[in-house]
Amino acid sequence: MTRGGLILAVESSCDETGIALVEDGRRIHSNVVASQVAMHAAAGGIVPEVAARAHLRWIVPVLDEAWAAAGVTWDDVSAVAVTEGPGLAGSLLVGINFAKTLAYVHGKPLVPVNHLEGHLYAAWLADEAREVPEPLFPVVALIVSGGHTFLVEMRDHLAYRLLGETVDDAAGEAFDKVGRLLGLPYPGGPEIMRAAAGATRHDVVFPRAWLGDSFDFSFSGLKTAARRTIAAETGGTGTSAGDSPLANDRVAELADGFQESVVDVLVTKTIRAARAAGARSVVLGGGVAANRVLRDRLAAAAQAAGMPLVVPRPALCTDNGAMIGAAAAWRFEAGTRAGLDLDAKPSLPLARR
Ligand SMILES: Nc1ncnc2c1ncn2[C@@H]1O[C@H](COP(=O)(O)OP(=O)(O)OP(=O)(O)O)[C@@H](O)[C@H]1O
Ligand SMILES: [Mg+2]
Repeated sequence: MTRGGLILAVESSCDETGIALVEDGRRIHSNVVASQVAMHAAAGGIVPEVAARAHLRWIVPVLDEAWAAAGVTWDDVSAVAVTEGPGLAGSLLVGINFAKTLAYVHGKPLVPVNHLEGHLYAAWLADEAREVPEPLFPVVALIVSGGHTFLVEMRDHLAYRLLGETVDDAAGEAFDKVGRLLGLPYPGGPEIMRAAAGATRHDVVFPRAWLGDSFDFSFSGLKTAARRTIAAETGGTGTSAGDSPLANDRVAELADGFQESVVDVLVTKTIRAARAAGARSVVLGGGVAANRVLRDRLAAAAQAAGMPLVVPRPALCTDNGAMIGAAAAWRFEAGTRAGLDLDAKPSLPLARR
């Protein structure tokens, strides 16, 4: 079966401008990402207006680089795909209008893609550096990112059943907030991972929100516990970025305790859900899936349960165009098309229970 052929995919939902050329939803010809992370670090977070302007500034150079790296032409392209949501309205609009123009000018169909479906389908991308098997259905997938945390079951392509989701903060959001409390730079996720790796003691234990038998998640209690502990140890209300009075060793121990709490809940619930669904593969995706401890812990637990874990390399877990091209291949085959009236859908959901 053909799987969409060569797709030019555009991602601009948050603070990464990504354009990729992906063949059959699996082979990456090029995947260029311009990240605004350094720019937003100064503000300690994303300023939507600033993000949209940066997408405008970078989207043409990113496209030029994607073509230069791919060695293909417009004649080879079967469709233009773009993230329609969820995400920041202004950021989404830049990518959508850019993709519309390309599709119109070159006479190609336009395929709208859900950003979260992109995070899922990153698991179907091939990797030149290592052998990655394709996930086998039924799949149970954990998507953990800056704005989302959920467990979904897939019995076939494009067929989703929501098993559970966060009732408050996303896991990435918790990493970023606690990173800030610890005085670490934005974004907190990778910083906490690095700091925690330096911990020599592992006796900080933060609470886990199990929420009974449910597959839902909650991270706000953990965040509050972390804030209280940090405030008590610094004699303040929590620290601000850059001037933590905590010693580096203590930052490492607290980061480790926090990360352990998040990873423990994510891994335990994912394996329980995968067993309940009779999954043949477990998939991990979203920006927090770049976390080494989460990857290793979930891989070991899935292996022990007889269900291999498929997780993309870290650069394909954080926002990028290739993951949109991967999902678009299946959307294209299923006949999903958008007209030139395509609009941004900032709170587009992926799945229902
Ligand atoms: N190594 C890491 N450990 C933990 N968290 C990480 C790591 N690397 C990135 N993150 C977190 O991943 C998040 C960014 O992920 P991603 O780019 O998928 O989110 P987003 O696109 O902003 O949100 P969404 O996909 O929900 O719209 C941030 O919260 C960041 O801190
Ligand atoms: Mg994302």
